[in-house]
Amino acid sequence: MKRVIVKGIGSHIPDCVLSNADLEGMVDTTNEWIVSRTGIESRRICLDTEMTSDISCEAAKKALENANIAVCDVDLIIVATVTPDMQFPATACIVQEKLGCVDIPCFDLSAACSGFIYAIDVARNFLLNNPVMKNVLVIGADRFSSIVDWEDRSTCVLFGDGAGAVVLARDTDDSGAGILDVLIGADGRCVRDLYCLGWGVADIEKIEKKDRCVRMEGRAVFREAIKRMSAVIEDILLRNELAVEDVACVIPHQANMRIITAIADRVGISEEKMFINLQRTGNTSAASIPIAIDEAVQAERVQSGDLILAVSFGGGITWGAALVRWK
Ligand SMILES: CC(C)(COP(=O)(O)OP(=O)(O)OC[C@H]1O[C@@H](n2cnc3c(N)ncnc32)[C@H](O)[C@@H]1OP(=O)(O)O)[C@@H](O)C(=O)NCCC(=O)NCCS
Repeated sequence: MKRVIVKGIGSHIPDCVLSNADLEGMVDTTNEWIVSRTGIESRRICLDTEMTSDISCEAAKKALENANIAVCDVDLIIVATVTPDMQFPATACIVQEKLGCVDIPCFDLSAACSGFIYAIDVARNFLLNNPVMKNVLVIGADRFSSIVDWEDRSTCVLFGDGAGAVVLARDTDDSGAGILDVLIGADGRCVRDLYCLGWGVADIEKIEKKDRCVRMEGRAVFREAIKRMSAVIEDILLRNELAVEDVACVIPHQANMRIITAIADRVGISEEKMFINLQRTGNTSAASIPIAIDEAVQAERVQSGDLILAVSFGGGITWGAALVRWK
């Protein structure tokens, strides 16, 4: 069976920088607290006029250019997001219209910060099972600034906005490159550890604007993130008969430096193998992994033939890992 390769990649973070110093003026916090507890120094925030579909399109255009394909060559668009422009239709439909590739199927996928890993698994299965499909555009994008409670210091310091995109396609020359494996999971018992109410909720007339913001049990999420991401790394390596030493670059979900360090210690990964950009981006949810892969490639931390391991964690709770031999 042919593999699915990453034919092109691109990412976009908004221009507007929100620094820890800016947050000091908004809530009772300090740069020292944020850096020591999270590693985050600044994050990028959308302007009022920038929607999730807009940042998605910016990332998508770069991915299409990098893949050297035209918009009309895209056969399917999947957008992983929990901050869609509209409750419906899907942000993927809005992206389709903005890019100008009407009539192809489009849908959104909701798995919070694990959305991108879930989406590449779905896209990979489309490509392997549907010979008509040649190029699938997968976007991870979130505009968490819309759903953060800017008066809650325990959450508002953590998140940023951004988008990352890949074009996936079947490998035509059996190069050995491509997505080797994807592993995804969820534990719905932890729904209330990290959530944001939607529109299908009971007693909707009692819901106030503030109740529509991100709510989080920070310590519980912290513990689960370390446990689940460590376990999924070990599982995916084991079932592919690989060792940590075989991996050139690990791309962890960019949530918190202390979480990443704890995983590295637990699994035995040297910190140099971990790609980290959260100090500049904060946690961009579904965009975190594709932005980090794109930046790792641009920084030449990933070379052709290298094995990369992306690992995610998010509300649900959800988790996932993907092993990719870079083209
Ligand atoms: C949020 C997080 C950084 C908090 O760190 P922590 O060491 O667990 O801190 P605690 O929640 O125990 O809070 C300790 C104190 O700091 C305070 N605090 C919380 N946010 C603060 C902030 N931004 N600035 C200053 N103080 C803050 C708390 O109110 C608490 O004060 P108290 O002891 O007087 O009650 C940490 O729990 C975390 O990273 N969790 C995972 C979050 C995450 O990654 N979510 C997304 C997953 S996809």
